[in-house]
Amino acid sequence: MTVDINESKNEFEKVFNSANSPDIEKAIIEFSSRMQIYNAGIKEIRTKLEILDEEFKAKYAYDPIHHIESRLKSPRSILKKVKMKGIPVTAESMSANIRDIAGIRVICNYIDDIYRVADLLTAQDDVKLIRVRDYIKDPKPSGYKSLHLIVEIPIFLSTGPMPIPVEIQIRTIAMDFWASLEHKLKYKTDNIVSDELRSRLLVCAEEISRLDTEMQDIHNAITSQSVEA
Ligand code: GTP
Ligand code: MG
Repeated sequence: MTVDINESKNEFEKVFNSANSPDIEKAIIEFSSRMQIYNAGIKEIRTKLEILDEEFKAKYAYDPIHHIESRLKSPRSILKKVKMKGIPVTAESMSANIRDIAGIRVICNYIDDIYRVADLLTAQDDVKLIRVRDYIKDPKPSGYKSLHLIVEIPIFLSTGPMPIPVEIQIRTIAMDFWASLEHKLKYKTDNIVSDELRSRLLVCAEEISRLDTEMQDIHNAITSQSVEA
């Protein structure tokens, strides 16, 4: 994944063209050049996760990570958040207040893998844990489940290291199945979902959660059998 700075800058300008202020112009230019560094943050964390997964595969013939997805927040979504939260339009304040510009989603096989991956990653010296939100233990009212971490990772620039926040969402294949479809359904209908459909989605989330626990149990039973054999 590469980031075209000019494209980011053009998009920022398009969204913010009504402002017509030299300060905002300056902030936009500075901020769009930072997008490259957020992209570096994604690369660093992704590599760490891939290395952990490969180590597990080599040692235990088992890989906890099913696959990894990543994205840079679009200038449009960044500016939407700036307006919604009333964040001052300076590169500094946008960087300080929006911590999901670099986003990684780790899709694991089983529930236990989620916590294993999170623990191993955050135990690394250069990864600083900033925030944990455990929506597996405390699901969102929608039924949404995932473990959310915000970590900081230093990016080594010609001027020295720069800490960059990265949002990591870790979930099972089953949690991801629900979250992706639910997101698309809500997105398509512009967030207008009736109470009846909301509660049906919640029931789906609960059924999926039961399956996740059952698959984990079966996995544990098979693994302990092969250890005993
Ligand atoms: P924002 O990013 O501004 O929302 O703030 P936050 O970091 O406090 O939010 P949160 O911890 O709720 O995480 C937000 C992200 O989690 C969203 O961008 C989604 O990817 C995901 N998410 C949260 N709630 C739901 C939900 O009900 N359904 C789905 N599909 N995804 C959700
Ligand atoms: Mg977000």
